[in-house]
Amino acid sequence: MNKAEIFKGRTAVITGAGSGIGEGLARVAAAIGMNVVLADVVEDRIARLAVGIEAAGGSALPVATDVGDVAALERLADAAYGRYGEVGLLVNNAGIETIGFSWEISGDTWDRLLSINVRGVVHGCRIFARHMLESGKPGYIANVASIGALGMMPTQAPYMMSKHAVLSFTECLYLEMQLKKAPIHVSAVLPAQVATRIFEDAPTDRQSGFIERQREMMHAMISQSGLTPMEAGEAILDGIASGAFWVSTHPETTAQMARARSDYLANLANPALADQAEALLLAE
Ligand SMILES: NC(=O)c1ccc[n+]([C@@H]2O[C@H](COP(=O)([O-])OP(=O)(O)OC[C@H]3O[C@@H](n4cnc5c(N)ncnc54)[C@H](O)[C@@H]3O)[C@@H](O)[C@H]2O)c1
Repeated sequence: MNKAEIFKGRTAVITGAGSGIGEGLARVAAAIGMNVVLADVVEDRIARLAVGIEAAGGSALPVATDVGDVAALERLADAAYGRYGEVGLLVNNAGIETIGFSWEISGDTWDRLLSINVRGVVHGCRIFARHMLESGKPGYIANVASIGALGMMPTQAPYMMSKHAVLSFTECLYLEMQLKKAPIHVSAVLPAQVATRIFEDAPTDRQSGFIERQREMMHAMISQSGLTPMEAGEAILDGIASGAFWVSTHPETTAQMARARSDYLANLANPALADQAEALLLAE
């Protein structure tokens, strides 16, 4: 069955829906006839997106939500179930980046990133899984990690660590649903390059030419060779609908990274800089 056959008429809750991959996913979901609940900390973006979706004949509910706030996630679930009575798909997509050496990132920035990228995913799953299980209907939960969950990258430690954590949590959640024989499909989404604002918005706590050059390089890389958010949204929703655990925007890159990771672990090799990381660091 394709994504429209599975999801038409059902409700998707998407966090970080105001920009990038979340926005692409929301547009694709609405286009196949899903009701979309748009959660983001930036209210005007989701308000505008909801107006656009409704103008095109869809149904959208914007809910201002900071995923780092558990009470806000509870309110999001209340709003979604209050308006649509069910949720068939939860995508925990909201996430941020940081740039800088681990010791130069402030405690507040470390905590903020982990709160959004890790706690937001865990509590989103915890709150919505209970509703989904109670309903007894088939449901889908997709957690957006990153291709970074299979690798390592200096000067992006909080982000890389958070994405490894999201993948690990999602693997355990998948097994828990299997153990309970629950009708909930769990997917780990590992996007590679998608042209979004993630590096423009990445907080940095130490201004330096190196940090700004790195921001520009990372931003240029995803802008110039990344998929559009709509292309990513299509690929991701197709993958989720297929029931796959591993969902990718760039399957060849994902397979390559997985092989490299598996060789690294099998050999108990030391962490090694990728060429790209070395070039960045030499530029300091
Ligand atoms: N763009 C890529 O190449 C890429 C690659 C791998 C993984 N990802 C992952 O995809 C996800 C989406 O990123 P994107 O690239 O679309 O970035 P983006 O910056 O374009 O969009 C992220 C959205 O999340 C929102 N957000 C930030 N903090 C939030 C909070 N506390 N609560 C709710 N919403 C919040 C932002 O306002 C923004 O609208 C992230 O988890 C990111 O790590 C992106």
